[in-house]
Amino acid sequence: MSHNTIAENQKRLPLDHLESVWLFGYGSLIYKADFPYLQRRPARIHGWQRRFWQGSHDHRGTPEKPGRVATLIEAPQASCVGMAYEVTPDVFTHLDHREKNGYLRFFTTFEWLDHQADQQVEGLVYVAGPDNEAFLGAANEADIAAHIARSEGPSGPNPDYLLNLAEALRQLDADDPHVFAIETELLRILKR
Ligand code: SIN
Repeated sequence: MSHNTIAENQKRLPLDHLESVWLFGYGSLIYKADFPYLQRRPARIHGWQRRFWQGSHDHRGTPEKPGRVATLIEAPQASCVGMAYEVTPDVFTHLDHREKNGYLRFFTTFEWLDHQADQQVEGLVYVAGPDNEAFLGAANEADIAAHIARSEGPSGPNPDYLLNLAEALRQLDADDPHVFAIETELLRILKR
């Protein structure tokens, strides 16, 4: 059984005193917004890179056969494009449940990708760090693609997570060699 982060997130960052909160999504939160939001805007964060290094026990795999999903890894020279959502604090009850398999929320700074690119905002991001029990760590992109190709969980096939994310990143004009290399390998394995 993997560590469940719901209680830890609710204890460390109470949000109820805020009218609204920005959330930065970089994985499934980009393309699957199954929660109400006030507005959403493409954004970038600095000092982090997206990597398929997190195991998924509850969405794209099972505890016995975890899938592979995205987390953020600290990298001082890197940046990561995603989608930011302005939400009311109550929405984090749902989000904490959705992200419970190892993700902790942190405040960080985003910059906008659209016309007000000079403006910055503080908001939350869910990160599954190397010390969480579901963390799988680094592997080459071909091995990650093979792992994803054979994985499936309650939220559906693991390939859908990767392919939906790659498509969403193209729509954002985001360059992400790691994700696109896994996509190329995965499509070769799936012969699509
Ligand atoms: C995120 O999308 O920001 C977190 C990881 C995920 O839910 O896929």
